[in-house]
Amino acid sequence: MITFDKTQGCFQLEGDGFTYLLGVSPNGDLHHLHWGKPLSTAALKKLLGEWKKRAVETEHHVSREFQRREFPDFGHNDLRTPAFQLEHADGYRISEFLYDSFQILPGKPDFGPGPSSRAEEADQAQTLKIILKDKLHKLELDLYYTLYPQRNILVRRTILRNRGSRALSILKLASASLDLPPAPWRLVRFPGRWAKERQMKEAALQEGTLRLESRRGISSHEMNPFALVTPGEADEERGEVYGFALATSGNWLIEAELFRDQTLRINAGLNDFNFKWSLAPGKAFVSPECVMAYSASGFSGLSFNLHRFVRERVVGGFWQSRPRPMLLNNWEATYFKFNHDKLLQIARAGKEAGLELFVLDDGWFGRRDDDTTSLGDWFVDKRKLPKGLRGLSDDIHGLGLKFGLWIEPEMVSPKSLLYQKHPDWCLHAPGRRRRMARSQLVLDMSRPEVRDYLFGTIGKALEEARVDYVKWDMNRSLSEVGNEILTPNRQGELYFRYLMGVYDLMARLNQRFPKVLFEGCSGGGARFDLGVLHYHPQIWTSDNTDGLDRIFIQYATSFAYPPLVMGAHISSVPNHITHRSMSLKWRALVAMSGNFGVEADITKWKPSERKELADYIRLYKEIRPIIQFGDFYRLENPHHSNRASWIFVSPDQKEALLFMFQVTPPRKGEKQTGIKLKGLKANQTYEIKELGLKASGRKLMEDGWLPKSFKHPKGSYHCELFHFKANN
Ligand code: GLA
Repeated sequence: MITFDKTQGCFQLEGDGFTYLLGVSPNGDLHHLHWGKPLSTAALKKLLGEWKKRAVETEHHVSREFQRREFPDFGHNDLRTPAFQLEHADGYRISEFLYDSFQILPGKPDFGPGPSSRAEEADQAQTLKIILKDKLHKLELDLYYTLYPQRNILVRRTILRNRGSRALSILKLASASLDLPPAPWRLVRFPGRWAKERQMKEAALQEGTLRLESRRGISSHEMNPFALVTPGEADEERGEVYGFALATSGNWLIEAELFRDQTLRINAGLNDFNFKWSLAPGKAFVSPECVMAYSASGFSGLSFNLHRFVRERVVGGFWQSRPRPMLLNNWEATYFKFNHDKLLQIARAGKEAGLELFVLDDGWFGRRDDDTTSLGDWFVDKRKLPKGLRGLSDDIHGLGLKFGLWIEPEMVSPKSLLYQKHPDWCLHAPGRRRRMARSQLVLDMSRPEVRDYLFGTIGKALEEARVDYVKWDMNRSLSEVGNEILTPNRQGELYFRYLMGVYDLMARLNQRFPKVLFEGCSGGGARFDLGVLHYHPQIWTSDNTDGLDRIFIQYATSFAYPPLVMGAHISSVPNHITHRSMSLKWRALVAMSGNFGVEADITKWKPSERKELADYIRLYKEIRPIIQFGDFYRLENPHHSNRASWIFVSPDQKEALLFMFQVTPPRKGEKQTGIKLKGLKANQTYEIKELGLKASGRKLMEDGWLPKSFKHPKGSYHCELFHFKANN
């Protein structure tokens, strides 16, 4: 429910478990009053009384630095980090946006191109639009707050409209900003690198401004566009938690400024680094959206709501609530060295094991025998596939498998027909060297003719080969981000124009192939974000398929993203990146904890291993609805404990799957502790018949349970999956 109290000048947004309060100060500045636990009438009265006293600005004391502001402008005496900064036609960079009016809208308005969480029915969400105006330059700033009350989620974005007569430049425009009250603030971030994405780190904030960001043109391996702040210590069950997830896949920024009075300002949105957008009269600039989640009951509560939100409101289209096929990908099996018969052999073995989809990865086009050539030439390599893609696809379909294909649309190899023909189609600046990464250059996705070419050639390949699945890869950061068509004052727009071009191509291909399942990828998980998930209902989590490393990657990824969207594959050992050999059971349980697949030449596996694999595949098929569409809870943190464990609970709470991994072996004499389950019905009896176990949900959740095999685990890396079923 969103309401406006006219006498108090105060907006109230009520989620099921939070209240968000905004106030218009006597001089028209917008103040942030509260985001947190619902307030009693008395607490609300007290809060408003205190705010009224604080909100008054006199000529003697005009500092806004001690106001908690909602969308701070720049140029006055609030010298903390502003939410936005504009350069007006006269060169001045001072703005003053004051409250003008508001609207409360059912559902969520259409914001045009780009990713956007959905509200199909008006009762799923409600939107508050607050209009601020800078009268001097006739500018309008629309702040949007879409409330998803059941999920305790608020989605914010900002639109700047130039209603004046001269162009201005946007130097910075956050999607969301707010000032949180004084507290010993802590921040959780998800940094990483290639093959080690999203390693969770938590620390106290100190005075100053922390910038979590990407300047790479992709959301990046180095930092995920998601962060949590907590006013003090929090854990899975306890403490208030505030989450900020950006639905954008390029240069992003989450700023956390801890001021001297211990208030915390958060600005989240596009990165202002190297950004400058010229806004002509009559035009509007729409920021990407920022998903803000709140939990009063620790990380679990926040992830629970974010997972449902991502599954229901971010992921869309044909595959939204359909079970995802178990795939077999040939990358780690063959790399670039394959032919029709080899692929078919692997696919046949996959079919025998029970897999459902065969994915042909990199190397099927141009003359691509290694990673130095052919990106851009999306025509089949007849040396490897003499019957063409269609011939292969027909044979794969003939086996009763679906057929998928790898593409990397945004790239061009200098050694390619495309580059010979259109050397100007890549990002570049005249006179500057074009720097390569993985021997490739980046196509300028802001150019419509580039997108049309890709739509045409890739579309044709997908259509002719009757493709059911596409893996959309993106294997380098952007460099020499220049464009000879844009006017000199618009070069600062190119990162964002590139990204909007990528989204446009994704949208067009989605529209042309509505039933094709797209999986996002960027050298593994460098573009794992809500922007991509709007178009691609699943993402390759990491190129690292090592079972042990994956525990940490998948554990941390689950803070914002549900297991349904995390590609998780079993590969051969020793692992191609870490050279470690984890047991097949371990690798299987890790892969089963996400969107399951296999990425190995299983024709080379021993018959006993293939049989074991077939058993896991059969099991996953059975439990898939719970894994993909149930609720997920982290139980034991591998960073703090010698085990990792998590549980999936079916929506009706009648079944639960407990995964346990002995990550480090217990030392001699170290007592193993029981594990408290989550998400069960307290007064329901659950059993595991094979173990003769019968216990109430309450007992399992409150007293905990220590499976026998974990009491004295022998050797390293013991792991188990326990399937609890309600006994009525
Ligand atoms: C990237 C992907 C891999 C694989 C290779 C192919 O690294 O993340 O999964 O597709 O490219 O070149």
